[in-house]
Amino acid sequence: MVSTQTTIAGFTFTNCLMNAAGVFCMTKEELEAVEQSAAGSFVTKTGTLAARQGNPEPRYVDTELGSINSMGLPNLGVDYYLDYVTELQYKENTKPHFLSLVGMSPDETHTILKKVMDSDYNGLVELNLSCPNVPGKPQIAYDFETTNQILSEVFRYYTKPLGIKLPPYFDIVHFDQAAEIFNQYPLAFVNCVNSVGNGLVIQDETVVIKPKNGFGGIGGDYIKPTALANVHAFYQRLKPEIKIIGTGGVKTGRDAFEHILCGASMVQIGTALHQEGPEIFERITNELKDIMTEKGYQSLDDFRGKLNYIN
Ligand code: SIN
Repeated sequence: MVSTQTTIAGFTFTNCLMNAAGVFCMTKEELEAVEQSAAGSFVTKTGTLAARQGNPEPRYVDTELGSINSMGLPNLGVDYYLDYVTELQYKENTKPHFLSLVGMSPDETHTILKKVMDSDYNGLVELNLSCPNVPGKPQIAYDFETTNQILSEVFRYYTKPLGIKLPPYFDIVHFDQAAEIFNQYPLAFVNCVNSVGNGLVIQDETVVIKPKNGFGGIGGDYIKPTALANVHAFYQRLKPEIKIIGTGGVKTGRDAFEHILCGASMVQIGTALHQEGPEIFERITNELKDIMTEKGYQSLDDFRGKLNYIN
């Protein structure tokens, strides 16, 4: 029997596919739709200490090759998501989940993580170090000193399973420097990648989204090669306990297969989920299983990270 089961930090997921934070995860109703689908898990919208309206609309647009967004972290507040994932823990036949969060400052991030630490929630947390869309706030993980500082402070008190959502890096030296920092900490996973920040999409003579005069995070087909490169670069550099979640440009079983071949333990779907809805998980799972069957692979371990090079 071909299986797409996977494991992160001791949590077993019956399927390696799930949503990416930001898509189908704002409300309990959306999260429930992913929970009821073929997805192996869900991640919540990134929760901040207080609820946020986010940026003015239009702030998300689908394009021929993907999407552009500048949502600005609209969310219902971290308590909403924390209460929900905690409640689900006690339900029968529930899946393990990911709570995404970040503060609007390092202090706020610590306040939120201490709240999670003191709560009954024992699932995974994804600390979002990569939102490109809050005016005046740079993507944290592009600042290695701040990233190192935050992680060193967090792991003094946070002992539950925690991973980080990363922006794409574009230089081999940056892969090396980032990996050197991440390897110092007991991270459960790194998620590569968030949108490619601050792109511009133009129709006729005008930008398509309102915030930041049209600058926004790019997702979909445009970013798959960058996402695969980041997954593989960190797979090569990180200690084996730190699992990789692959996100970016996944809309077919072949795309998911490539992420796993590059080293991903779990694969998230963003733009294509937004465009197709939660039924996408069944389609892509079947397509992935067909590829595995054709190649004689029974489990993800049979090909994870086994990308071939040309000698
Ligand atoms: C947003 O809310 O702006 C998108 C979230 C993200 O890119 O982290």
